[in-house]
Amino acid sequence: MGHCSASAFIQLVSLIILSGILSLETIKLGFCNDDNSVGCTDIERKALLMLKQGLTDPSDRLSSWVGEDCCKWSGVGCNNITGRVNMLDLRNRYSDGLNGYRSIEHAFGGEINPSLLVLKDLVYLDLSMNYFGGVQLPSFIGSLEKLKYLNLSGASFGGIIPHNIGNLSRLLYLDLGNNYGHPIETDLQWLATLSSLKYLNLEGVNLAKTTSYWLPTVNMLPSLVELHLPSCGLSILPFTLPSINFTSLLVLDLSMNVFNSPLPPWLFNLTELEMLDLTYNSMTGELPDSLGYLKSLRYLKLSVNSFQGSMPKSIGNLTSLEEFNLGWNQMSGIIPESLWELSSLVSLHIFGNTWEGAITEAHFAKLGGLRDVSIGNDSPNISLVFNISSDWIPPFKLRSLYIRSCQLGPKFPTWLRNQTELTNLVLRNSRISDTTPDWFWQLVLQLDVLDIAYNQLSGRVPNSVRFSYDSLVDLSSNRYEGPLPLWSSNITVLYLSDNLFSGPIPHNIGQVMPHLTHLDISRNSLSGSIPLSFGNLSQLTTMVISNNHLSGEIPHFWNNIPFLVAIDMSSNSLSGKIPRTLGSLTSLKYLIVSSNNLSGEVPSLKNCSDMRILDLGDNKFSGPIPASIGESMPSLKILCLRNNSFTRSIPLQLCGLSTLHILDLSHNNLSGNIPHCIDNLSGLKYEVKDIGIEVYGYQGRLGVVSKGRVLVYDSILYLVYSIDLSDNNLSGEIPVGITSLLKLGTLNLSMNHLTGNIPTNIGNLRSIETLDLSVNKLSGSIPQSMVSLTLLNHLNLSYNNLFGKIPTGNQFQTFVDPSIYEGNAGLSGCPLPIGCQENEETPKVPSGDGGEDDDDSKLEKLQFVISMVIGFCAGFWGVFGTLAIKKSWRYAYFQFLDKVKYGILDFVSAIGTYLHKGS
Ligand SMILES: *[C@@H]1O[C@H](CO)[C@@H](O)[C@H](O)[C@H]1NC(C)=O
Ligand SMILES: *[C@@H]1O[C@H](CO)[C@@H](O)[C@H](O)[C@H]1NC(C)=O
Ligand SMILES: *[C@@H]1O[C@H](CO)[C@@H](O)[C@H](O)[C@H]1NC(C)=O
Ligand SMILES: *[C@@H]1O[C@H](CO)[C@@H](O)[C@H](O)[C@H]1NC(C)=O
Ligand SMILES: *[C@@H]1O[C@H](CO)[C@@H](O)[C@H](O)[C@H]1NC(C)=O
Ligand SMILES: *[C@@H]1O[C@H](CO)[C@@H](O)[C@H](O)[C@H]1NC(C)=O
Ligand SMILES: *[C@@H]1O[C@H](CO)[C@@H](O)[C@H](O)[C@H]1NC(C)=O
Repeated sequence: MGHCSASAFIQLVSLIILSGILSLETIKLGFCNDDNSVGCTDIERKALLMLKQGLTDPSDRLSSWVGEDCCKWSGVGCNNITGRVNMLDLRNRYSDGLNGYRSIEHAFGGEINPSLLVLKDLVYLDLSMNYFGGVQLPSFIGSLEKLKYLNLSGASFGGIIPHNIGNLSRLLYLDLGNNYGHPIETDLQWLATLSSLKYLNLEGVNLAKTTSYWLPTVNMLPSLVELHLPSCGLSILPFTLPSINFTSLLVLDLSMNVFNSPLPPWLFNLTELEMLDLTYNSMTGELPDSLGYLKSLRYLKLSVNSFQGSMPKSIGNLTSLEEFNLGWNQMSGIIPESLWELSSLVSLHIFGNTWEGAITEAHFAKLGGLRDVSIGNDSPNISLVFNISSDWIPPFKLRSLYIRSCQLGPKFPTWLRNQTELTNLVLRNSRISDTTPDWFWQLVLQLDVLDIAYNQLSGRVPNSVRFSYDSLVDLSSNRYEGPLPLWSSNITVLYLSDNLFSGPIPHNIGQVMPHLTHLDISRNSLSGSIPLSFGNLSQLTTMVISNNHLSGEIPHFWNNIPFLVAIDMSSNSLSGKIPRTLGSLTSLKYLIVSSNNLSGEVPSLKNCSDMRILDLGDNKFSGPIPASIGESMPSLKILCLRNNSFTRSIPLQLCGLSTLHILDLSHNNLSGNIPHCIDNLSGLKYEVKDIGIEVYGYQGRLGVVSKGRVLVYDSILYLVYSIDLSDNNLSGEIPVGITSLLKLGTLNLSMNHLTGNIPTNIGNLRSIETLDLSVNKLSGSIPQSMVSLTLLNHLNLSYNNLFGKIPTGNQFQTFVDPSIYEGNAGLSGCPLPIGCQENEETPKVPSGDGGEDDDDSKLEKLQFVISMVIGFCAGFWGVFGTLAIKKSWRYAYFQFLDKVKYGILDFVSAIGTYLHKGS
């Protein structure tokens, strides 16, 4: 055993940068790695080799672990006097290029050999970001009694945190966070003895069992500087705390738990606090004035909670505040003047609340450092006004500006002229009715997000605008005209719907923007045919070109666009057949081609096994309904084949569609019986709860006829339950099983040749609002059970062979129009003149429109019947089919756009594929 010569001593300084808050902390360890040194002891070298043996090392990171002097091995540090190993830094520093998280290809795995215990002088152990696949954290770690630094963050240990961690009484830094995907829990009993602890991170560790004692336990640690307990399943944030031990706390992160109480008063005694993070809870109550005591705060993050009331004036006392995030709460009122005094502000996020009043240029005078701003909310109503003169030159240069549903117009904001560093610009629903000035399009920006949708912006859009790689552009619902713009290949999401763009879709669209994943150019005046270059859009997932004047046949390029999730070509003049290659799209969930002139037989869509909505309505399709629809689309929710020329009987296989809740086969030439197996449609029996993203995939508009009018449903589409088989040649009886479809809201069987009775227990259909059985050959009486249909507001039984007394009571009192019963010679009772007794309750004629009723001609009534049978056909579908999270703007943008999507993104982040870890 020799000694290292003095010159051989190298001071190894490991920099620990904590949350960017604590300045650089250093743990100084002697580190002997000179040739003259004798090096590490034999026994420790052998222990390290055994450790190496136990580990899997796919990228050979331990290739330097050969030779005598283990102090020279990478990641190994030794005491400069004793030569004993005191540091092991085996952190995996390689990140996954895709999402910035750890790279599995460089991660150690396997087992931690207990030979580690031989390293008795170990002070520093970092195994973070490796991958141990959820195995129980070995309890012998608790015997490394000299440890000051233990980092197992993201190393994917699971199970229960061993109690003997409590033996590590010299620990200063303990990081066990971030092991998402591998359940790990603890009762915290071991914590109290770690009295020197400065840093504790248990992100994602299940602390649900510690109910309210987690706080008193943590409060035993007088030296604590940083406490990170996000996503720990904590539900109780105790309102009182007798005395505070952790007064040196600088960082408190309790985000993503399930607290649902007001802010506790003891929090405001932590006057040293620089960062408070309570985002993603359900905290309630008002922000008290005592918030102003936290004078050292630099980061105040309270977004996605349920805080109410107005912003406290004392916010102005937080003069060091750099980031203020209050997004997605329920706050309201006028923003206090004191907020605008916070001259250190860099990020101001107060979107998702209902602020009132006016913001003027004077408010921004002191905010020269501002970089990121988001204001507004997702309501269409506007309560906050920007009152800014056209010659204002802002003191700041913003990086991102998100304004939604605030009045900014009517003039285009000229002050944007100086905002030459913008990467995100959102001015959505801002009441700007102006032509977009040329200088705006000429600004040399490299935008990630440009969303100026829902204004009254006009003019032509030049092709010269530049966008960064993987960008989103939304100009929809404006008055832009001229040809569709063609921008750089960098755009991935392009929404131009609901404008006045005209002319053909540029033939080279697929060559110029080959990276498009989402394209919506619906509701314009585009003409010509679908260009063949669409076939170059190999990444496309959403293609919405509906409501234009497109003509010609649907091209055959579908084999080249394998990831398509949604196609909407409805309301154009497309003709010819559906190409067979379209049936090869295995990811397709939404196929909407209604209201065109398409004809021929429907090709096999057998491979489209994930289909959710199939709408072929209002075309000229012929032949039988393909039975394969019922066999190969187990997740189908909406099937619309209305107004075509389909023949033969309804295939029994359709009864297998157990999630179907809208079935519209009306206006065809279908014959035979209504299948008896119709009661297998369990999607019409129970509320089929969609899970996760699916619910929100259901975005779009669907015209639904109810109460004789077309109502447009959008995001509540999944709540519509209906069957429409009207205007066919169906015969036989109404299957009794139909009365078991308890969620049915609309049932239309009119204009067929149905015979037999109305099923006696039709009163079971408690949810039904619209029931049309008119123009059939039904006989028997109107079942008395129908009086229990208390939601029924539209009934038509005309032109059948019904007889007997019309039931009275409940909803029947409101059916005052006798025409709904006419053409049934045998019916009597109110509102018909025959058999309506004086002593019976007479249905009440609503005042006012009685006169019009009297003037109703036969024709108008027929029209009414026709409008009743207009079925369901889909319009526009804005489906965020894939929420691929490649880039930070997606997170920021969706968090601005929608709390729900924000939540989804967060869920994705929680399973460890999200990039805030990396950046
Ligand atoms: C050995 O390391 C300690 C810190 O651990 C340092 O203070 C000391 O100066 C070092 N000795 C020599 C000779 O470099
Ligand atoms: C632990 O390791 C993770 C990932 O390598 C790192 O981000 C974190 O800052 C480390 N914790 C401490 C206390 O150094
Ligand atoms: C404060 O810390 C000390 C030392 O850890 C402990 O003895 C005491 O009980 C703590 N006080 C509270 C209120 O937790
Ligand atoms: C908080 O501070 C107030 C006033 O300084 C004091 O009265 C109170 O006891 C403190 N609360 C705790 C829990 O320390
Ligand atoms: C905020 O500052 C004002 C003026 O300096 C002071 O009067 C007030 O007490 C402070 N409020 C808080 C909560 O610190
Ligand atoms: C802002 O824009 C105006 C008009 O283009 C220009 O005259 C002025 O120099 C710009 N100021 C700054 C600070 O960029
Ligand atoms: C595409 O994006 C890259 C990187 O963001 C940028 O350097 C390039 O200039 C952009 N191209 C165009 C045509 O805007």
